[in-house]
Amino acid sequence: MVLLDGKELSQQICQGISRSVGNSVRSGKRKPHLVAVLVGGNAASRTYVSAKAKACEAVGFRSTVIHKSAAIAEEELLCVVSELNRDEGVDGFIVQLPLPAHVDATRVIQAIDPQKDVDGFHPTNVGKLVLGLDTFIPATPYGILELIRHYEIPTAGSRVVVVGRSDIVGKPIGILMSRKAYPGNATVTLCHSQTRNVGELTRQADIVITALGVPGFLTADRIKAGSVVIDVGISRVADPSKKSGYRLVGDVDFEAVRQKVSHITPVPGGVGPMTIAMLLKNTLQAYESHAAAVGK
Ligand code: GUN
Repeated sequence: MVLLDGKELSQQICQGISRSVGNSVRSGKRKPHLVAVLVGGNAASRTYVSAKAKACEAVGFRSTVIHKSAAIAEEELLCVVSELNRDEGVDGFIVQLPLPAHVDATRVIQAIDPQKDVDGFHPTNVGKLVLGLDTFIPATPYGILELIRHYEIPTAGSRVVVVGRSDIVGKPIGILMSRKAYPGNATVTLCHSQTRNVGELTRQADIVITALGVPGFLTADRIKAGSVVIDVGISRVADPSKKSGYRLVGDVDFEAVRQKVSHITPVPGGVGPMTIAMLLKNTLQAYESHAAAVGK
């Protein structure tokens, strides 16, 4: 069994980004600048945003976190987005999801300049992804592709089952794995809450990708021997032995499933760190396109 080590691979990717930033800065350019907009006090969102800011600093990016109250009016948030769109000193920005229920997240995402949309969530960028055009690939699916590529997992003609149809992970990874490229050329089945007998489908899969947030969902009897399991779920479960009072677990019954597979991602240390590295990669891409566009 091979552990798909996202921690190690993300460090390699970040080293590459850091070298590239170093070269740009030495040649007189300013640092790439990523802004994260955080609304409210959702504990997981705060953790993610601070991890993103820390990662920016580690590779030599400038990073700014704009923290707004959960009570912010939608129009005020749209003003924040429009200022970031206009700000020449910002290469890319993200609005951390989920947003409070009174804010229409779709409207907010649609207000982001697609060229600064390093999450790849704007409909223009989603459309480009579907058509196989150059765009920002959303960070989590991008991280999964890079893990598959790095570990040279064959995908052409394979059966991929994705569990979860979110806009952030399930839908885009389904599209990417079926495109005519490597990693891809797979036959993809996208399962969701209305799918009948998910286990019957995952048992036929060469690669299972779970993105549900349901601890222990993928049990050993639901997979084929020798398959590849990629676990995108991250849930907090109470653990009094930890200082924080919780530990992170994925969607996979890891200890049992690891005995049966050829490759598996751990949680933590699998897809999670890859997501952050790929967000930085998208920001570098935005920075380079921005510099090319303004001739700097
Ligand atoms: N919430 C959970 N994952 C993400 C992500 O990748 N980007 C944003 N903006 N919000 C998220």
